[in-house]
Amino acid sequence: MNDQPQEAALQRDGLSRLTAEVLAACDALACQSEVEGGISRPFLCPTTRQVHAFLSAWATRLGMTTRVDAVGNLRSRLESPVPNAPTLYLGSHLDTVPNAGKYDGVLGVVLGYALVEALADQAAELPYAIEVLGFSEEEGVRYGVSFIGSRALVGTVDDALLDLTDPEGVRVRDAIGGFGLDLAELAGAEAAPNSLGYFEIHIEQGPVLQDLGAEVGVVSAIVGQDRLSLHFTGRASHAGTTPMPLRRDALAAAARLIVGAEDLARAAPGLAATVGMIEARPGAGNVVPGEVTCSLDVRHADDAARRVALDELLALAEREASARGVEFRAEPRMTERAVPMSAPLRALLHQAAEEEGLVHPELVSGAGHDAQIMAGRMPAAMLFVRSPNGLSHHPDEQVNPQDVEAALRVGARFLVRLAESVRAGAEASA
Ligand code: GLV
Ligand code: MN
Ligand code: MN
Repeated sequence: MNDQPQEAALQRDGLSRLTAEVLAACDALACQSEVEGGISRPFLCPTTRQVHAFLSAWATRLGMTTRVDAVGNLRSRLESPVPNAPTLYLGSHLDTVPNAGKYDGVLGVVLGYALVEALADQAAELPYAIEVLGFSEEEGVRYGVSFIGSRALVGTVDDALLDLTDPEGVRVRDAIGGFGLDLAELAGAEAAPNSLGYFEIHIEQGPVLQDLGAEVGVVSAIVGQDRLSLHFTGRASHAGTTPMPLRRDALAAAARLIVGAEDLARAAPGLAATVGMIEARPGAGNVVPGEVTCSLDVRHADDAARRVALDELLALAEREASARGVEFRAEPRMTERAVPMSAPLRALLHQAAEEEGLVHPELVSGAGHDAQIMAGRMPAAMLFVRSPNGLSHHPDEQVNPQDVEAALRVGARFLVRLAESVRAGAEASA
C-alpha cells in the first residue's frame, strides 16, 4: 500500500465493517422475492419496491438524492462541489433469474453505495458526481430481451421493445405503466451528456478467478450474444395410432436442435450455446407434440464466430424440422456484439489492484452485463469478484467475504485514482 494523504478513506478497519454491511444488505434483499423459499425478482415485479426502499434509505444516510426513472431504474446521486462536473455511474442490476442466488447483480449495486460510503471523507472534494444505478432489468427473463434498464440510459428503448409481450401477454409499456411509471419521462432516463464513465462490480459467475487463486479480476471484454425464440409447428396426433413415418413431431425436431447446439459448442472453443427454456404443446404423454417453443442463446467473444455458429444451428433446425414435415420459424429477440472494456479505465483498475497488493488477471466475461450497453455511450469497466466453485444462476451462489473486501479496496482506490486523473485533466486544459 502506498501512503498518500487521500488514503485516509481506505483504512482497512472501515472497509471490513463496510464488507459486513454489504453482505448483510445482500442477505436482506434476498428476502424480497416473488416466490416463497427462493429468490425470483423479474422486471418490475412488486417486491422491487421493497428493494428500492431499502437502498433509498441507505442513499439518504449517505446524503444522496434518489429517484426511480421511467423504466424503473433506481438512481441515487451525490453531487460534486465542482460546477459542471461529469457524472461517474456505478452499479449493476436488481432483477434476478428464477431461483437465483443472492449476489448476481445485487452485489454490484450494494457495492456502489458502499463505495460512496467508503469515500465519504472525500465526497466534498470529488471532481465528479456519482450516480449509483440499480438497473431494473438485465436478465432478459420476462421479455427475452436483456438490459431494458441500461438501454434507457443510452437512449435505445424504442417502440419495438416497448411492444414486446411477456408470456402473459403484458407489453413492456403496460408493465411500466402498471408499476406507476411514466414513459413520457423516458428521455429523462438518459445518461448525462458529460458522463465520465460506468464502473460495475459483479461476481464472475464462472471458475476462472478461483483457478487462478485471485480475489478479483479485470474484465477485458464482454462476449457477444444472440437470443432467439424458436417455433416448431407440426401436428398433434394420437401417440398410439399415428405411424412413426406419418408423424409431424415438433418436439423431436427441437430435440435434434438442442443436442446439435451442445455438440457444436463442445467442439468449438469459446462458443456457448444453450436452450434454457422449452414448452411443448399440448403437453400430454399420449399425444405427439404438435408445437414447440424454445429459446436459443449463442455466445462468443468473436462476433464472426458467433454468427457462423448461429447460422449453422438455424440450418440444422430447418433440416430437422423439414425432415418431419414440421415448420420452423426463428424469432430473433436480441443481438449484442462483443464489447471491449475501456482501456484507460482498465489501466486504472490494474493500478488500483496492484497498489492494494492483489493479483489482477484480465478475463473475458461470458455473461452479459449492463456495462456492455453503457459502453455504447461512455467508457465502461468491470471488476469481477471470485465466484466460489464458479456457481451462479443458482441458489447456492456464494462470495467469500475477503473477496468482497478486496473488491471494495480496489474499487475505492480506483475512484481515488480516477479523481486524480480528472483533476489532472482539468489542470492540463486550464
Ligand atoms: C446474464 O446473466 C446473462 O445471461 O449473461
Ligand atoms: Mn448479472
Ligand atoms: Mn444473471
